[in-house]
Amino acid sequence: MSETRSYPRRVKTEAGEIEFRLMSRTDEAAVLAFAKALPTHDLLFLPRNISQPKVLSAWISEIEAGDITSLLALKGGAVVGCGTLVKDSRSWSPHVGEIRMVVSLDVRGMGVGRALSQETFALALGSGLEKLSVQMTVDQRAAIALFESLGFKAEALLRDHVRDVDGRKHDIVVLGHNVAQVRAQMEAYGLPGAVTPSG
Ligand SMILES: CC(C)(COP(=O)(O)OP(=O)(O)OC[C@H]1O[C@@H](n2cnc3c(N)ncnc32)[C@H](O)[C@@H]1OP(=O)(O)O)[C@@H](O)C(=O)NCCC(=O)NCCS
Repeated sequence: MSETRSYPRRVKTEAGEIEFRLMSRTDEAAVLAFAKALPTHDLLFLPRNISQPKVLSAWISEIEAGDITSLLALKGGAVVGCGTLVKDSRSWSPHVGEIRMVVSLDVRGMGVGRALSQETFALALGSGLEKLSVQMTVDQRAAIALFESLGFKAEALLRDHVRDVDGRKHDIVVLGHNVAQVRAQMEAYGLPGAVTPSG
């Protein structure tokens, strides 16, 4: 999947220069520290709690197996964000990818999330997927605004779908994006390089 984008890449944001690169086993400790510093409420959109070492280790095994591609955003060597593209080639939805994204509290509102979402979206466009989905608790206004601005639209509301550590239940919204249509439009405009950048 990564053959269509090359890393590391650097982007300038209000939080300073951010480096994007692919996550691997050697990042385990740094990503665990990043996840543990996040409010657990901000992890409710994920199927498992990534601040637990076992979950993180399983996630890295899935990266190694090729169904997950995770991009880290680093500032001065520290992990400040993570954008993930999840595919399941053995399911009935091999054409669908899910984007998962989280940014550390201290750099929020400074453009890191936007840059990371664009980078993850470009990765998804270049990987041949036809549809993308993203999900979050309904109170994540920034996440909803961000993905809507990329063309995602609400497709489902799952009431009381996740339960936090205090036992409170929260609704999840699922947004979808027909990327096959975007790819076809870009090709019609003669812009194939926009979906398979050479790096
Ligand atoms: C979603 C998230 C990654 C955004 O990261 P970020 O670095 O703060 O994002 P940015 O600074 O690039 O802001 C993104 C956009 O959201 C908008 N935004 C920020 N805070 C907002 C808020 N409270 N309400 C509405 N919009 C908001 C910004 O205006 C910005 O749009 P712009 O680029 O047009 O100005 C971050 O809030 C997060 O980690 N949330 C918790 C995890 C989560 O729920 N992830 C969603 C699942 S995929």
